[in-house]
Amino acid sequence: MRLPLDRPAYGGDWNPEQWDAATVAEDIALMREAGVNLVSLGIFSWTFLEPEEGRHDLEWLAGLVDQLHEAGIKVDLATGTASPPAWMAADHPESLPVDARGVRLGFGSRQQYCPSSAIYRERSLALVEALATRFGNHPGVVLWHVDNEYGCHTRECFCQACVHRFRLWLQDRHGDVEALNRAWGTAFWSQRYTSFAQVGAPGAMPTFHNPAQMLDWRRFCNDQLLSLMTAQIEVLRRHSDRPVTTNFMGDFPYVDYRAWAEHVDLISEDSYPDPADPASAHQVAWMGDLMRGLGGGKPWLLMEQSPGAVQWREANSPKRPGQFLLWSIARMAHGADGIMQFQWRQSVAGAETFHSGMVPHAGTDSRLWTDMVAAGQVLARLAPVMGSRTQARVAVIMDWESQWARGAAIGPVTPAPFARARAWHRTLWEAGLALDVIGPADEVDAYDLIIVPEIFIDRPDLAARLESAVCERGAHVLVEGPSGVVDENLRALQGGYLGSLRSLLGVRVMDQAPLTGGNLGFGSAEDTRGAAVNRITRAVAVPSEATWAGLSAQTVGLRRALDRLGSPAPDLRADRWLEELAPLPGSTWDEVEVCASYDGREGGRDLAGFPAITCKRFAGGGGAWYAACYLDALSRRALADLLVAHARVRPVKDGLPDGVEAARRGRFLFLLNHGDAAVELSGVVGTDLVSASSCSGHVMLAPRSAMVVDEGA
Ligand code: GLA
Ligand code: ZN
Repeated sequence: MRLPLDRPAYGGDWNPEQWDAATVAEDIALMREAGVNLVSLGIFSWTFLEPEEGRHDLEWLAGLVDQLHEAGIKVDLATGTASPPAWMAADHPESLPVDARGVRLGFGSRQQYCPSSAIYRERSLALVEALATRFGNHPGVVLWHVDNEYGCHTRECFCQACVHRFRLWLQDRHGDVEALNRAWGTAFWSQRYTSFAQVGAPGAMPTFHNPAQMLDWRRFCNDQLLSLMTAQIEVLRRHSDRPVTTNFMGDFPYVDYRAWAEHVDLISEDSYPDPADPASAHQVAWMGDLMRGLGGGKPWLLMEQSPGAVQWREANSPKRPGQFLLWSIARMAHGADGIMQFQWRQSVAGAETFHSGMVPHAGTDSRLWTDMVAAGQVLARLAPVMGSRTQARVAVIMDWESQWARGAAIGPVTPAPFARARAWHRTLWEAGLALDVIGPADEVDAYDLIIVPEIFIDRPDLAARLESAVCERGAHVLVEGPSGVVDENLRALQGGYLGSLRSLLGVRVMDQAPLTGGNLGFGSAEDTRGAAVNRITRAVAVPSEATWAGLSAQTVGLRRALDRLGSPAPDLRADRWLEELAPLPGSTWDEVEVCASYDGREGGRDLAGFPAITCKRFAGGGGAWYAACYLDALSRRALADLLVAHARVRPVKDGLPDGVEAARRGRFLFLLNHGDAAVELSGVVGTDLVSASSCSGHVMLAPRSAMVVDEGA
């Protein structure tokens, strides 16, 4: 759904309750100066909106909404429920969340509520009702901002009310206690239950929790938070036809945004890439593609980014010159139709005093303020881009439930959330391709190349969709392990992993062999003082202590892809995660092509000769590829180049210099120079909306700057 704005949303969180009347008046004047057309209001205002339990005071807020409206600035009105007032904690201590060790958390920070708390739910919905009644049809209010960053700090609560709700949830999911016993495998360690009343939350325990219990707990906690949001939305919709959003946090691992996205009218996202990390240029792209995917390809809104430094890292780098505008335009390149900041005016007190704001402590004669005003002007010129769509023929699948399952499983390794989806996305992004990030239940018809990394839970319906893409349309699918390892209750699949993907891929996984070298290593140091001391142990080779394993390319295609990456051709390597493959029962290796195998170097010694990358070809030209290891970045690139060639996908723009990203939305070509050097580009024809000038071939792009070329103009 589009907001009634004639140019991209620009503004930020405004917390006028922290300021005096003179500052508020100055703020509105400055907003106009900066071209602000939307502010998020009331996010942390509950204590002023309901100073004592049951007494609402909305008039001060009404005055501000009116003032903004008169100034032509629209309001993204928050429901204000993210941080309950002190009276709630003092008078209803049971509303405070309890951690896994049973400690009730205190007041004085934020998000200190138990998602099951009856009083929290009652008072928050009453507040939403009051706000929706008062402002639901106000011409200045164009968007509802439900709560704030659900789960950011409090994503689970172990209090008795939550345990009670968990039991009801389990009863609903499993039916009876015997079904729960089967699903959770409670024959193990005498964990059998004879009634739901015996079942608890997976809080502190002597040793490993039951993985299936933990997975159900993750699902339950997600549903609990989601139910808070849907309850608010239900109230809002009764009184207002304004669109509704809540601010997501990118690939935040604890809630399944795909399930959440269905309930909101507009996807919005908070994103804080670290200026001190060169990979942040990719972070911007990854988060953007992810948000666009959540909205089914529709535009989304950047709800928060920092104008300069944040305050919550150990050391907080400011944005580099040009970077604020560059990253803002990059969000637009990946589908955003508005760029909002946290926050409008930098705080003078509280935990975020040293978090930047659009109006900095230094005042308006600062570089930062000049940048804010300039960005407002540029964004206004990007108005024609709004609503236009990105077309991608490559998709990366990302599955929250699989991530929960991996986190809940004990072993085989504890992964960083979504590390492989991100790694593959980065490889293809560095290669210049337009990408979508989609979920395991999404359609794949639009894609010629589909990357399926770490879909830990076997998903027969996904396998069926991939199979028809490959067999009927000639698409190429690359699966990477560990995939298809468990069912939805974390029960291990039998007869070799890969589950319902086995027939498509023509292989199964017989064993897993992560490498433990480097800082993960636990081998004992050699005693060098005399051979006799270590006479036996020093002869024990331990390939698993390596950090990589050597692979060798077996096909001409892969060898050529490597040749193109350098001379002499670089070698293929796996990174830390290795698997042992076998053909399907009753078949042989003749039925799949072995593209690379372990060559015995370093950590791959025990797997020497086993296939590491395979491909099953289909008559219509499609291919089902399997990577039985985590390929390192270079090897990913080589394989990606090969896959892209097979799938006949082209980069957005050929021949770009280092540091430059290209992206397309409709007839608009975005050229983003993330690098530190000025670059020259050729073949750029159209009108650059950023500089409002026309280009007819060669153009220069300054370091950390961007062009948005209207090629239809
Ligand atoms: C989150 C919150 C904001 C603010 C910023 C600071 O995104 O939603 O209220 O705390 O972090 O970076
Ligand atoms: Zn609770």
